[in-house]
Amino acid sequence: MVSSIKASIKTSIPGPRSLALAERLRRVECRNTTFLSPEFPIFWERAHGSNVWDVDGNCFLDFTSGFGVAALGYTPEFTIEALRDQASILSHAMGDVHPTELKVRLCEKLSELTFESWGVGGGKTILSNSGAEAIEAALKTVWMTTGKTRILSFKNSYHGLTCGALNVTGRNEFRSPFQSALTDITVFLPFPKTTKDFIFLERKIRIHLAAGRIGAIIVEPILGRGGERIPPDGFLKLLRRCCDEFGVLLIFDEIYVGWYRTGKRFACDHEGVVPDLICLGKAMTGLFPMGACVGKAEVMDRWPKSKGEALHTSTFLGNPLGCRLALAQLEELERTHQSLQIDRKSEILQQELEKLALSQSGVHDPRSRGLLGAIDLVDPQGQPDGAWAARVMVKALRAGLILLASGVEGNVLSFTPPLVIEESELKRGFEILNSVITKTDF
Ligand SMILES: Cc1ncc(COP(=O)(O)O)c(C=O)c1O
Repeated sequence: MVSSIKASIKTSIPGPRSLALAERLRRVECRNTTFLSPEFPIFWERAHGSNVWDVDGNCFLDFTSGFGVAALGYTPEFTIEALRDQASILSHAMGDVHPTELKVRLCEKLSELTFESWGVGGGKTILSNSGAEAIEAALKTVWMTTGKTRILSFKNSYHGLTCGALNVTGRNEFRSPFQSALTDITVFLPFPKTTKDFIFLERKIRIHLAAGRIGAIIVEPILGRGGERIPPDGFLKLLRRCCDEFGVLLIFDEIYVGWYRTGKRFACDHEGVVPDLICLGKAMTGLFPMGACVGKAEVMDRWPKSKGEALHTSTFLGNPLGCRLALAQLEELERTHQSLQIDRKSEILQQELEKLALSQSGVHDPRSRGLLGAIDLVDPQGQPDGAWAARVMVKALRAGLILLASGVEGNVLSFTPPLVIEESELKRGFEILNSVITKTDF
């Protein structure tokens, strides 16, 4: 099987139409946005289920869900129907002035699926057009409700690239070009690797919180773009304990790991820890740019009432197409998550990652939770090997598999296939990966 896949590796990907589009894009898009090289990217034309077709007619299996968005696959029937139906009735409203019933229903649904379901009263929402904006809303909630400006965050975290979110994103490569324009409001602590790290971490957190200037701790319950690092059990409990003791808010950024990516509705459900604010996005609609910051009602009610001019809003806030798609997506996720057999597919994912680590030297630390998985690629000296990961991405693409590398050094291969992926597709993807991961043959 592997040899047949090897034989099917095409060297003409990207195809001629993708290459021509890359040339056109180079002339008109900011040069820092899309990475353009002779080997990247392919231009997408259509997608269905876990498969994507490019403009040259090549088909790819997508092990990324398009940055974790297409949890229920691409173009599922229910979203096409919802989109068509809503577009024919109303596709824009005045979100913070004359909104729609759909906005009411979505905020109700978000309350039901978060704080009500956790049994701690209701939740109140600020909707947004992206994940980063949901973080902005959470930060403004902290500033508005605690009167404290400082935030405690984690090294290697990723919370988005708008200026507020960048302030709390623990990645220097994103921050340093803008450092002089950013405000120095964030303390970054190391994300724990083992329970042994807890003692140092808790001591540090206590010192910072005791100083009385920190209004919130923001954390990804699993570090996503920072390399799919799953912290030891007890980490979220530790944070909750410290926040409670010092009267500080706890923000979970579940933009990447929420909505059943890890097998449970939210990654924090694995530890049974409830935040004060939760930021959501990506799979919440499955295809529409939308995010949400949902907070405990008692926290959100510390915002003053709007007197006609909202202190935080945007033109497209609560867009009816987005609300309709989010409602459809959340209903479908709730209805089908058990039948999707995420646990079973998660076992396959973990087994495949372990097999890779056993068969290929330099492949380390196979890990997963639900359908979020990763391996580290390291060189013979044990150092992160981002160049190897980049080559694997290119070779996988030529063989029909879309993969992404993550981590600060770019040496982590990450796996976030659609939750609807078939077991056979999952196995096929790993056959491809097996055939392209060897360091020789480049
Ligand atoms: C954990 C996390 N937070 C925030 C964001 C930012 O979301 P967006 O890209 O929609 O602004 C991302 C995006 O990858 C993310 O993974």
